[in-house]
Amino acid sequence: MGQNIGKIPSKTDHYFSSALPKDLANIYDEQVSLGVWNPPFDEKRSQYAHKLAASDFQFAEVVTLDSLKDHLENFPDFPGAKSMRAWIFELAEVFSLLFKQKKIGVKVSSQARPMCPKFHVDHVPARPLHCLHGESCLWIKDGNYFNKGSRVQDWVSKVEKTPEEVKVDQPPKGAVVIMKGTGWNSGSIPIIHRSPEHDSPRCVLTLDLADNISSFATRVSR
Ligand SMILES: [Fe+2]
Repeated sequence: MGQNIGKIPSKTDHYFSSALPKDLANIYDEQVSLGVWNPPFDEKRSQYAHKLAASDFQFAEVVTLDSLKDHLENFPDFPGAKSMRAWIFELAEVFSLLFKQKKIGVKVSSQARPMCPKFHVDHVPARPLHCLHGESCLWIKDGNYFNKGSRVQDWVSKVEKTPEEVKVDQPPKGAVVIMKGTGWNSGSIPIIHRSPEHDSPRCVLTLDLADNISSFATRVSR
């Protein structure tokens, strides 16, 4: 996916990858199902996330940007805490603007084992996901899957029975990913994905759209 960095996707792409957060707006293209933003690596955040993953830290709250600041102050004071607080706030701000949300469901989950080991789709309009520590999720990249009329369950069965015949891809470590789900509601195809296998703890940040979902779907389908 790295070869597409910095490029605006063509109308036939079902995913894009960019080093520029402004390119995330391409997620509104009906043909796009997955967007990847590759931010620069940050050593302080990386060190903090390593500690967070090992500490079994869990956080899940529906927040506004104002209330998120208070919650972040209660995150553990490991080295790099200031950088991580600013980073999580920045991501919440980016996605509240991108999806015009006043409220965002912020979840930080340290996982000793894969949370969702089986291929599936999410029943939400779209889910931004960022592995603070560990590998990103796996997704089915097979071109045929993105044909209109493809049945998600058929592909899930196919990958379970004959995994060698299905193209599976993984965004680079540190990527911020937006995966469309079944709730996008404008003809876009949801992303089939799963957690990677991992032996050491992983720490995952997800951001969910928490304003009225039906009004979001109406805006998207216009
Ligand atoms: Fe999922």
